[in-house]
Amino acid sequence: MATTKPLTIAVPKGRILKDLIPLVQRAGLDSTPLQENDRRLVRPTADGAFRYVFLKPDDVPTYVEYGAADLGVSGRDTLLERRHDLYTPLDLGIGRCRLVVAGPEDTPIPDLPRVATKYPRIAGDHFASKGVVAEIIPVHGSVELAPLVGLSHLIVDIVETGATLRENRLEVLETVTEVSTLLIANRASYKLRSDTVRPLVERLRAATAGARR
Ligand code: PRP
Repeated sequence: MATTKPLTIAVPKGRILKDLIPLVQRAGLDSTPLQENDRRLVRPTADGAFRYVFLKPDDVPTYVEYGAADLGVSGRDTLLERRHDLYTPLDLGIGRCRLVVAGPEDTPIPDLPRVATKYPRIAGDHFASKGVVAEIIPVHGSVELAPLVGLSHLIVDIVETGATLRENRLEVLETVTEVSTLLIANRASYKLRSDTVRPLVERLRAATAGARR
């Protein structure tokens, strides 16, 4: 017997929603639950076909990997850092930014730099690949503060507009990787619920392609 359980889509609270809503609309999906300004964490569509669950961005891949959500929306930065066992069927082409090494303007870098970051694994791999012995200091936010008050010499962090770096007199020293937002899928759901999941992925793919023209 076919399942009637709604497909669960994990979405990150925060800035990516403003780009995700028009994409969902172009795909012909009901975006109303994404736009409602309330505190509900589980939001079904009117036809009951889907439900969106609202999470902190870092938690989206965890819910999808464990099958608590079938699909999710997650940044490549988070996925590179955490290395979850997931399927990534589609680059949604939104949330484009860069993960960079940055430091105070016009300041020499020591041979053994301390590096503050929300991405200790990516930063560690990056410096190791260059043969630089760096001390990685994990922090959870306001990363740009670290070199201003002597916690670190450098940071590895996301740059979108560049405003945060500029306003704190920091500059980009190198790009670690380009970042965008991906559609992620639970491996079992992608196979077992393919009748629902595959058409949804294709509608989102068409909407993504349309946005790039
Ligand atoms: C992110 C990132 C930078 C900032 C970059 O932080 O960590 O601090 O955005 O954006 P910009 O180049 O457009 O200025 P976020 O706003 O997510 O907050 P956080 O510092 O608490 O992590």
